Amino acid sequence: MDHFNRKNGVLHAEDVAIPQIAADVGTPVYVYSTATLERHAQVLKAALADLPRVHIAFAIKANPNLAVLGVLARNGYGADVVSGGELKRALAAGMKPEDIVFSGVGKTRRELQLGLDEGIGQFNIELEEEGAVLAELAHAQGKIAPAVLRVNPDVDAGTHAKISTGKAENKFGVAIDSALGIFDRLSKLPGLNLRGVAIHIGSQLKTLDPLEAAYKRIGELVAELRAAGHDITHVDLGGGLGVPYRPGETVSSAEEFGAMVKRVTQGWDVTLMFEPGRFICGNAGVLVTEVIWVKPASGNPYVIVDAAMNDLARPALYDAYHEFEAVEPTGEKFVANIAGPVCETGDTFAMGREIDVVRSGDLAIFRTAGAYGATMASTYNSRPLVPEVLVSGDKYAVVADRIQAETIMGAERVPEWAR
Ligand code: LLP
Repeated sequence: MDHFNRKNGVLHAEDVAIPQIAADVGTPVYVYSTATLERHAQVLKAALADLPRVHIAFAIKANPNLAVLGVLARNGYGADVVSGGELKRALAAGMKPEDIVFSGVGKTRRELQLGLDEGIGQFNIELEEEGAVLAELAHAQGKIAPAVLRVNPDVDAGTHAKISTGKAENKFGVAIDSALGIFDRLSKLPGLNLRGVAIHIGSQLKTLDPLEAAYKRIGELVAELRAAGHDITHVDLGGGLGVPYRPGETVSSAEEFGAMVKRVTQGWDVTLMFEPGRFICGNAGVLVTEVIWVKPASGNPYVIVDAAMNDLARPALYDAYHEFEAVEPTGEKFVANIAGPVCETGDTFAMGREIDVVRSGDLAIFRTAGAYGATMASTYNSRPLVPEVLVSGDKYAVVADRIQAETIMGAERVPEWAR
């Protein structure tokens, strides 16, 4: 459920008409709904409320905008971060250090040090050597780093290959059959409190079966680790819950997820940690765009919009589907291709899709753009960096400026010898 609905035929974000934002801020522009963010945050919290001890860390890679993070911090969410930059953002947004989990397969010494300096809640270790380095850094400063070991359960998440992370051949985590040995060795090191395990098998999972299979393997590992004398107090179950992108598409609900987790983790007696990203913010954002041309072609006409693959990369990267809708539809439909102005054939949002009839100058939206949208934007083709707007009721504010080519050029230097 989201809060992007039509009132008197005009698409609104909560109580704000999209054309008003477009007139004020220009296009393309991402628009987020506070009510939708809060709703999803609460729905997931409620679905997990029955579990004994729970920690929810928003995977801020999905939407790191400070205002968005602020909404989630207010709703009791911590942060799952994967870089020093994300760590700084989580803190800047008001998330408490102890509520921050640091994931990522390539944390540098400098990033590990930053995490120690800030006193974050947990490091998710991806390989033995990383654990040893973290222990050494912490010990040198008389600290003890709270950590869990990320395990690769070798489960097929059944999602797009580029966002699947739990197969043996993926770069993430340690092989499940080597976990006990690594745990034995790392847990002897001073400076490290290795207190549990973590998994994350992939993103945009539409069914719970792969998650359930992975969680069961982790449950067996927890029993094995305990039998070997290890004190296991935390299990991080990652993120991955999918959202509907197409009209009528069904995905598992938060309630179904909560019930499955409760059933599978019965008796584990640990703090369960979660790292949802897309589920919280995916449907809480749209990308507003203006139609530049409707260009006749030998096949279907091309609707050329002012948003491009640099603003919303998902269709070009993962062949992702984003629903396209006119802001003030006439009710007529036609079959068209939708593309942006970037000089690549890959800058195509849809081919041969039945959509609202639009004309040059009309406004339209791509839905479900709140996760992995603005954060993956670039300035390719020297296009400005796309701005972001947050709506709450009848209020709205620009929460990220459009960064113009002049500003970007301002960070570039031409040395004397290159002139
Ligand atoms: N935890 C870890 C360790 C992760 O790697 C990820 C996502 C998450 C949590 C959050 O997963 P979510 O709940 O959002 O599925 N750019 C891609 C998605 C990449 C996901 C990377 N990892 C896309 O646009 O589909």
